[in-house]
Amino acid sequence: MHIRLSHAVIVATAAFAVSSCQTPDKAVMTTVAPPPDRIVAAENEPQNWLSHGRTYSEQRFSPLAAINSGNVAGLKLAWSYEFDTRRGQEATPLVVDGVMYTTSAWSKVQAIDAVTGKLLWQYDPEVPGESAVNGCCDVVNRGVAYWEGKLFVGTFDGRLIALDARTGAVLWSTLTVDPSKPYTITGAPRVVKGKVLIGNGGAELGVRGYISAYDARTGKMAWRFYTVPGEPGVKDGAASDAILEKLAGPTWKGEWWKLGGGGTVWDSMSYDPELDLLYVGVGNGSPWNAAIRSPGGGDNLFLSSIIALRPDTGEYVWHYQEVPGDQWDYTATQQMILADLMIDGKPRKVLMQAPKNGFFYVLDRETGKLISAEPFVKLNWASGVDLTTGRPNINPEARYNLTGKTWVAMPGSLGAHSWQSMSYSPQTGLVYIPTQEIGFPYISDPDYRHHKRGINLGVDLDAVSMPDDDAARKQIVDSAKGYLMAWDPVHQREMWRAPYLGPDNGGTLATAGGLVFEGDATGGFHAYDAGNGKELWSFPAQTGIIAAPITYSVGGKQYVTIVTGWGGIYALLGGEMALKTGRHPKIGRVLTFTLDGKASLPPTSAEPLTLFDIPRQFGTPAMIAEGKARYHRTCVGCHGDSAVSPGVLPDLRYSTAINDKDLWYSIVGDGALTSQGMVGFKADLSPEAIEAIRSYIISRTLRLPEAKKGS
Ligand code: HEC
Repeated sequence: MHIRLSHAVIVATAAFAVSSCQTPDKAVMTTVAPPPDRIVAAENEPQNWLSHGRTYSEQRFSPLAAINSGNVAGLKLAWSYEFDTRRGQEATPLVVDGVMYTTSAWSKVQAIDAVTGKLLWQYDPEVPGESAVNGCCDVVNRGVAYWEGKLFVGTFDGRLIALDARTGAVLWSTLTVDPSKPYTITGAPRVVKGKVLIGNGGAELGVRGYISAYDARTGKMAWRFYTVPGEPGVKDGAASDAILEKLAGPTWKGEWWKLGGGGTVWDSMSYDPELDLLYVGVGNGSPWNAAIRSPGGGDNLFLSSIIALRPDTGEYVWHYQEVPGDQWDYTATQQMILADLMIDGKPRKVLMQAPKNGFFYVLDRETGKLISAEPFVKLNWASGVDLTTGRPNINPEARYNLTGKTWVAMPGSLGAHSWQSMSYSPQTGLVYIPTQEIGFPYISDPDYRHHKRGINLGVDLDAVSMPDDDAARKQIVDSAKGYLMAWDPVHQREMWRAPYLGPDNGGTLATAGGLVFEGDATGGFHAYDAGNGKELWSFPAQTGIIAAPITYSVGGKQYVTIVTGWGGIYALLGGEMALKTGRHPKIGRVLTFTLDGKASLPPTSAEPLTLFDIPRQFGTPAMIAEGKARYHRTCVGCHGDSAVSPGVLPDLRYSTAINDKDLWYSIVGDGALTSQGMVGFKADLSPEAIEAIRSYIISRTLRLPEAKKGS
C-alpha cells in the first residue's frame, strides 16, 4: 500500500515540478528527482519520530520494543537538557536521523543531539511579552513539523516560520493572523503534500477560527478555511466561502461576527493518505455564552466539530458536530486517532476522539458518519448521543444561559481529556487516555462587556470562584481527579485505570514493547504494562509533566524522551485545586532515558514563598468585593482562582507590590513588567478598579496563616 501511495505522490510532485518551472526542459525534468514522502511512509522509519503524532494517523504507537515490559524496570536517565524558559512546556519533540527538534515556552526551537543531549542550536523568535495577554492558557508551544530538511514552528504571536533543520537559520516567515486581534499559536504545524498546515487560538478572547495551508518551500499561502461564517454578504475569498454560506451561515443568529464566533483550530489534525482526507478539530464558541454569541440559538456550525478537507485545496468534504451550539467550552480539538478496527465483524476505517465533553467518539473516517459514542467518564450535560442523527441529547438544565441558574457541569471546561495526547496500541487494541474529572460551574455574566485585553467568556468566573468555607473547598479540591485510562474503542468500555494525585497529567505513548508511558502533574514519569495497567517503572522528574513522551532509536539503541515543566491553563487558573499536586520548582527540561543511562538530575526545590511585610487592609467591603469581581474577570487566568497561584506565575498575596499603591499601579496599570508577559490594563481598568483589586488581594493575604501569626 505504501509503495503504491508513494508512487502516486511522486507522480503528483513531478507534475508540480514541471508546471512550476519557468523554462521547462528535459534536463531539469530528469534532474529534479522528487523526494519520497517520508511521513506517508513513516512506518518504514521506526527509529525516527517524524511528525507530531509520529505518523499521520497520530496513534503515538512506536514499533520499537528493545525497551519492553520485561526490562523497563531498569530504565535510567541518559541525559537531560534544561530550557531557558520557566513557563509551561507542552512540546512533543521530533527525532530525525539522530537529531531531536523540540520547542519550549515562548515558541523557542531547539535542535539537540539525540544521543548526547548536547544543544546544536536554538532559535528564538523573540515573541514580544505583550502578546502573552492574548493567550488563554500560558505561553506554551506543542512542537515543530519537519519536511525535507526544514522545520516549521508557529509562534505565540501568530507567525509561521520555516527554519533550516541543520542550522536553525530562518528560511521564511509569514504572519498568519490579523495582529490587531487576540490570536495566538500554540499548536504544532503538520505538513501534508508539501503544504504546512497551521491554525490558531483565541476563542476565549474573541476571534474567528480558521486553518491555513502554506507552501513549505516558499511560505506562500495556498488556501484558508474559516470554521465559522463571517459577516453575512461579505465573502472571504477562501476555500470555505461556499460551504459556510450554504451550511453554516443559517445556523447562526445576531451579530456573532463582531465578537469573532470562535471555532479555533488550536491543536489537532490528522491525515489519511489513502483517502486523501485531512481531519481538523474545531474548538469552542467565542464567547462561551451562546446567548451573547448567537442570541436566539442555532447549532453554530462548525463549532465543536471535526471537519474533513482536501489537503491540496481546502475543499470541504464532510463534518461531524459533537456539540451543537456549544457553550461549555467543549472543543473538538482533542487528538483524532486514525485506525482500522473490526467492528461487528467488519473492518472499519475509523477516526477516534475523546474530547473534553466526555464521550468517546468512533466515526467512519471516509464519510464522517458516527459509529458509536459512549461516555468514558461520568457526565451530566447529555444523556447520550443519537446514532441516527449524531446529535447529543442535551440536558435542558445544562443551558445556564437560558435557565439563569448555575450549572455545575461534568466534565467542566478543562475537559474529561484535553490537548494532552492519547495513544493507541494496535497490539492491545486499547486507547490510553489521560483522563480527568473536574467539574465546572457555569453561570451567565450579568455584567458582560467586551474587554479589549484578556478573556471574554460571558460566564461569571467571580460567582463561581472558590468558596470561603473550608469544608466546601476541601470537597471541591478532593473531587478533582486524574488517571490514565485504557479504553476499548470497539466495545466502548474501560479496561483499566491508573490513578494519580490531581488532574492535568501528561500525554501518553504506547510501544510495541507492551508499554504505556505517561508523566503526571506531580512530576512522576511512569511506565505501565499496556495490557493490565500494572506500574512497572517510575522516575521523579522534579516538576509537573503535561507534555507527551516519545521514543526513538539511534545506532540500534532505544531512547525514551519526555519534556517536563509545569504550566498551562490548569496550573495558572486552578488555584487551590492545582496546588494539590505541589508547588513545583520552575524548571523545564528534556529528559531522555535508556537501559544503560548514567545521568542524574541536580537537586532542586520550589522557591519558598515569603511574606515580607504584612499589609494593612484598606477599602470598604464593597470595594473589596468589586476588586474580587475585577480580579476574577481579568487576572484569574494567569494568577489563579482566589489569588492562589500554584507557582508558575507570581502568587499576588505575597507580592511586595500590594504594599505600595504607586508600584502596584505601575505594574497593573502602566505595564512595567510588559516584557515579562505582564501587560498593563489601564485601557480596560480605571485607577479605582486597579486599587480595588489591590484591596481584594490584601484581604486574601491577611487570611494566610503567616499573616495571622505576625499580626
Ligand atoms: C496573561 C497573563 C497575566 C494576566 C492576565 C495578569 N498577569 Fe500579572 N503577571 C503575569 C506575569 C507573567 C508576571 C510575572 C512577570 C515577571 O516575571 O516579572 C506577573 C506579575 C504581576 C505582578 C508582580 C508580582 C511580583 O511581585 O512579582 C503583579 C502585581 C501582577 N502581575 C498583578 C496582576 C493583576 C492585578 C492582574 C489583573 C488586573 C494581572 N496581573 C493579570 C501575567 C499576567
